[in-house]
Amino acid sequence: MNTLKSHNQIIWYNETLISDSVKLCCDPEYWQQQGKILGSAQGRGTTWFVQTETLPAALRHYRRGGLFGKLINDSYWFSGWDKTRSYQEFILLEYLIVQRVNVPQPIAARSVRKGLCYQADILTQKIPQAQDLVGLLQINAIDSTMYEKIGQEVKKLHQANVNHTDLNIHNILIDQQNMVWIIDFDKCHIEKNNNQKNWKQGNIDRLLRSFQKELKKRQIHWKQTSDWQAFLSGYTD
Ligand SMILES: Nc1ncnc2c1ncn2[C@@H]1O[C@H](COP(=O)(O)OP(=O)(O)O)[C@@H](O)[C@H]1O
Ligand SMILES: [Mg+2]
Repeated sequence: MNTLKSHNQIIWYNETLISDSVKLCCDPEYWQQQGKILGSAQGRGTTWFVQTETLPAALRHYRRGGLFGKLINDSYWFSGWDKTRSYQEFILLEYLIVQRVNVPQPIAARSVRKGLCYQADILTQKIPQAQDLVGLLQINAIDSTMYEKIGQEVKKLHQANVNHTDLNIHNILIDQQNMVWIIDFDKCHIEKNNNQKNWKQGNIDRLLRSFQKELKKRQIHWKQTSDWQAFLSGYTD
C-alpha cells in the first residue's frame, strides 16, 4: 500500500491499480469531468461507478445512517489517521482477500481532516455484472444451491473472524457466474476474542431480519421455511 500525504489529508492506495489519478480519484467531480462515470447506485448516499485506468470501480463517500446522520451527515471525530473509517475498511478488505473471502479489491481510501473532525471516501473494484440480493429477489426467486453458497460465504467471513456489523441483503451481491460477494465493511472489524460467539449470531439474526423486512416492504421472492434453512445449511456445514 502506498500513501500520498498533504497537510490535511492522506490517500492510501494500491499502486498496481491506480497511479495517474491518485490525487483526485476520490472526487466524483474529477471522474465526471473526465467523462468516466459509468453509473451509480443509491445506498445511504450515492455510490458512483467510475472507469479508472485499470478497472471499473465504485466510489463511496462515508455517511452516517439513522437520526444522528440527519444532523451530522458525513463528519467523524478524528482520533488518528489509522483509526479513520476509510483506512480501516481498506486494510480490512485487503485482509479478507488474503483470507479468500469474496470482497471487492480496495483501490484507494482518503481521509480529509477538518479541525477536530474528518471526512472520508473509498474507491473499490466494482464487482462486474453483479446485482444485490434485494434487487435480484424482487424479480425472481433463487434456488437452494444459491442460498447455500451465500451461507458458505458468510461462514468464510466468520472463519476469518470478521464481524460484519451491517450484514443485510443490500450488502450481498451475486454476479453472472453465481459468485457471492460481500460488500460495505464500514465499521466492521476483526474480533479478537474467539470464544465470544455472540457476534456471529448477531450477524445472522440481522441478515434474517433484513430478509423479513424486504419481504414486507418489497414483496421479495423469499420463503423463510425453505430458503432460510438452505442458507443455514450452507453456513453450518
Ligand atoms: N464494489 C461494488 N461493486 C458493485 N456494486 C457496488 C459496490 N459497492 C457498492 N455497490 C452498490 O452500491 C450500493 C451502496 O453501496 P454500499 O457500499 O453498500 O454503501 P452504503 O450502504 O453505505 O450506501 C450497494 O448496495 C451496491 O448495490
Ligand atoms: Mg450498503
